[in-house]
Amino acid sequence: MPRNFLSGKKVLVTGGLGFIGSSVAQKAVLHGAEVTIYDACINPYGWNFANIKEVRDSVTVVKADVRDFEKLKQNIMDKDVVFDCAAQVSHTISMTNPFLDLDINCKGPLNLLEACRRFNSTARIIFASSRGVIGHPKKSPVDELHPTDPLDIQGINKLAAEKYYSLYSRVYGLKTCSLRIANAYGPRAQVRTGDYAIVNWVIKKTLCNEEIAVFGDGTQTRDYIYIEDVVDAMILACSSKAAFGDVFMLGSGTETRFIDVIEMIVNLVGKGSITRKPWPPDRKSIEIGNFVSSISKIRNRLGWSPKVSIQDGLRMTIDFYKARLKEYMYSNGH
Ligand SMILES: NC(=O)c1ccc[n+]([C@@H]2O[C@H](COP(=O)([O-])OP(=O)(O)OC[C@H]3O[C@@H](n4cnc5c(N)ncnc54)[C@H](O)[C@@H]3O)[C@@H](O)[C@H]2O)c1
Repeated sequence: MPRNFLSGKKVLVTGGLGFIGSSVAQKAVLHGAEVTIYDACINPYGWNFANIKEVRDSVTVVKADVRDFEKLKQNIMDKDVVFDCAAQVSHTISMTNPFLDLDINCKGPLNLLEACRRFNSTARIIFASSRGVIGHPKKSPVDELHPTDPLDIQGINKLAAEKYYSLYSRVYGLKTCSLRIANAYGPRAQVRTGDYAIVNWVIKKTLCNEEIAVFGDGTQTRDYIYIEDVVDAMILACSSKAAFGDVFMLGSGTETRFIDVIEMIVNLVGKGSITRKPWPPDRKSIEIGNFVSSISKIRNRLGWSPKVSIQDGLRMTIDFYKARLKEYMYSNGH
């Protein structure tokens, strides 16, 4: 990647007050970009002004919704790069409120692509897609050619959005790229609900010396990727022509059992305890089984590789929340 690709660029980050969006925004500011954050501040998602505390004076915050085409258009027109990180992120909410998910996760990305097609066709647009588009892995590790058969509404809508991205590249020549992020964790993720970003929620429970309920035996595996590695890949993707029009799996490439992560956290913090509970039916029905990403394509094509081990990532995340837990437990940092 050209080291300072973002230097002097105008960057829009949708969902920029959330976990991934704010982390991208922070790094973009560091790289010398002029950053606009576009976030609707919707609960119960991870928006939090504490997430941009360090760069608050260097970014512009627009409180607006990706479902609002006019607002999006106004904010997209002069941008060089767009990171699309706004979403309805809960798998369970997507099942109880499917039309909300459709509205945010399909209409949002389509609005963004249409706004770019009509008013800014040279912008580079990176989509935060999800490993949820895969469903139950049929082979391991999961690569980009793996069949897609999502287990929940959110996965279906993320897949549709990915396809919009590819289509707008193929048909209109937009510079798009989708990254199928695995289980991201790290500083700035919300910790109020275990509905998503579960590692962070477990860290909060442990720091509060609470009991952590593990559904079933906890031996299902996931691919846990540290936020800095996600951010580096997103910035690399926007700077590389080789990424445009394509889809990449984005994980650590390492398979880790959920229960092992929980035990690592409890050991590192020195507090908290683990209990087992039967799977609630609504969670069991959308549980994907074991998952690990193949990262060969992104490694070979873009030269990206993960740098942070799970042990180091957990340590850094725990240190962050030890220092700043209050900012994440009680308010959205206003
Ligand atoms: N965190 C992960 O492990 C993970 C894994 C795979 C994919 N992703 C994807 O990454 C993206 C960001 O997720 P996150 O973990 O940062 O979640 P988050 O909840 O921390 O952030 C999402 C942000 O989007 C905003 N938002 C929601 N609806 C909006 C709307 N209609 N208009 C404008 N803003 C809106 C919220 O206010 C919030 O600030 C999502 O697309 C998610 O699907 C995340």
